[in-house]
Amino acid sequence: MAKIQKIKGFADLFAAEAGKYTFLEGAARTVFSRYGYGELRTPVVEFTELFAKGIGADTDVVGKEMYTFPDRKGRSLTLRPEATAGVVRAFAESGTYQPGRVFKYFTFGPMFRYERPQKGRMRQFHQINVECFGSASPYTDAEVLLMLHDFLSAAGLTKLSFELNTLGCPECRPAYRQALSDYFASLPADALCEDCRRRMTTNPLRVLDCKVPSCREATDGAPSVQDHACARCKGNFEVVTAALDAAGLAYTVNPRLVRGLDYYQGTTFEVVSGDIGSQSSVAGGGRYDGLVKLLGGPDVPGIGFACGMERLALLLPERKTQAPDFHIAVLDAAALPEALALAQRIRAMNLTGEVAHEAGSMKSQLRAADRSGARFCLIMGGDELAARTVVVKAMSTGEQMTVPLDDAERVVLR
Ligand code: HAM
Repeated sequence: MAKIQKIKGFADLFAAEAGKYTFLEGAARTVFSRYGYGELRTPVVEFTELFAKGIGADTDVVGKEMYTFPDRKGRSLTLRPEATAGVVRAFAESGTYQPGRVFKYFTFGPMFRYERPQKGRMRQFHQINVECFGSASPYTDAEVLLMLHDFLSAAGLTKLSFELNTLGCPECRPAYRQALSDYFASLPADALCEDCRRRMTTNPLRVLDCKVPSCREATDGAPSVQDHACARCKGNFEVVTAALDAAGLAYTVNPRLVRGLDYYQGTTFEVVSGDIGSQSSVAGGGRYDGLVKLLGGPDVPGIGFACGMERLALLLPERKTQAPDFHIAVLDAAALPEALALAQRIRAMNLTGEVAHEAGSMKSQLRAADRSGARFCLIMGGDELAARTVVVKAMSTGEQMTVPLDDAERVVLR
């Protein structure tokens, strides 16, 4: 029978790699808790409608990348392509909102997008996601960015660039969209790629985000959102940048930063790395003030971000696993019960190590001890069992001594 393999774009994470994810989650949990965020776990599957409505039908994510399937009753379900829509749904559905209060959640977990897999881009990937509901203050935007920076620093990731933009609001965006459409319409017919010719009318902001070099060139002189933002959007953006300046967080303003999901307005941002190739955006987010209402909740503002763990993991050094404290070698099967009991006593002292479950030759047992990297090898043969002793070998020096079996755990503790 052909071997069953994993699905393309999905990965198995063994200890060395999985350890990086655990480390990132630990750093995120610690930092976000300091800012008053609490954990929220939402389902991996939701009704398709949630994403279609929340993310926008004309986005790449909804249009091309979702894992959508009917359940046994024919309802359309989708593996979550991102966390925001589900977190908003959970918040709205829970009815926890109270006017005047701010609600802050972080979420870790797998997301699914049917994209072309490459370095830093998977079909199942993992996000560290943050959402904050109930504050329209630009100081919240600034704090969210500072918290993201704090988390990345806590993870040891300091060589990253922060890019900021504002996407305008329902007041000023329509005029900006129109200005963009007019500009694109004035270009020669073949100046934009086929996708952009479609986006020109459906979602002109996305044209600014196109990676095709000729499109980038053609849109060089496009009107800037920074020039078209209304006084309120401009004012908010100034508060955000001034607050970041005061806090000493370096950033660049990138007027082409439009993000790929439709719910954004006002402050948007991405964190970019120059060290991981073309999939360089390690985090992205922004404000989405109309989304909670759109998804059936109260009319409250929201802001958040998500980090891609695969991309952060690419930037992390290999995590060193701690060497175990002991390995118990068993040379005579009669010693197996005592060996197992001794291992339990040592582990009860918070030490780590393994014990042979089958007796073997001195050579093979010592090889296993060596491979484990343990500090001490405790050797139990027939003679030792009869004398109720254990030979303890310090693996770094080769030094050996014989100690009473009932007391052997204390030698390892030293
Ligand atoms: P996003 O920009 O689509 O935003 O994704 C956030 C991050 O997830 C990206 O910067 C990237 O690091 C990672 N990512 C996305 N797709 C993949 C992939 N196929 N493989 C590996 N990593 C990937 C969102 O998802 C928004 N929900 C963020 C947000 C939260 N905005 C407000 N709140």
